[in-house]
Amino acid sequence: MKGLEKYLKKNRNKSLYDKVKKEFEKRGPVAHNWDHIYRDIINAIWIGEAEKANMEVVFPSIVLHDIGFLYDPDPSIHHKLGAEKCIEWLEDWNKEDKKAIRLCILAHKGKSFEFSIEPESIEEKVVYDADQLEKMGYAGLLGCVRVGVEFGEATHPELKSLYEIAKLFKSVSKITLYTSKAREIAKRRGGMKFDIFEKAYNELREYYEE
Ligand SMILES: [Fe+2]
Ligand SMILES: [Fe+2]
Repeated sequence: MKGLEKYLKKNRNKSLYDKVKKEFEKRGPVAHNWDHIYRDIINAIWIGEAEKANMEVVFPSIVLHDIGFLYDPDPSIHHKLGAEKCIEWLEDWNKEDKKAIRLCILAHKGKSFEFSIEPESIEEKVVYDADQLEKMGYAGLLGCVRVGVEFGEATHPELKSLYEIAKLFKSVSKITLYTSKAREIAKRRGGMKFDIFEKAYNELREYYEE
């Protein structure tokens, strides 16, 4: 059902998967960790196969999409840093694929939050959508809170406050998904739980706002 096994039968995929897993388990942060990346890989397989994307590009891209966090905890640069560093992990891929993988990592935040690089190729859209699915549904709600905890420790001390976490995620208001498969999964999970962040914000504001 997960569909991962057939990708791990290819030596270069298995070796990359094992190396990245090991590094994240050793030194990954609290939210952008292997738990997150593993689910993103499965999301990308479901979406990429449905969209007939080039999985020789999608698979390594999604495995590597958050490696920026292994080098620097700053979320605002992790897509660029990951795109730069990915080449060191890709000795088994050819020049053309390396370029496509680099672009997938660079565009994996799309135009969400403060980011501004729109995914263009179908492979870039699959990687972006796979990552965005992590914010959907009730599991996504837990994930968003965990991201707040990570950033609060690392680079955004204001996010040590539940009130600030609720304020941040209630303000997202809409997430663009590019593929019909991702939209289908998101719909089944009830989309992002903006209403819950709004409700939490309204409870918490009683402590801080007049
Ligand atoms: Fe990311
Ligand atoms: Fe991610």
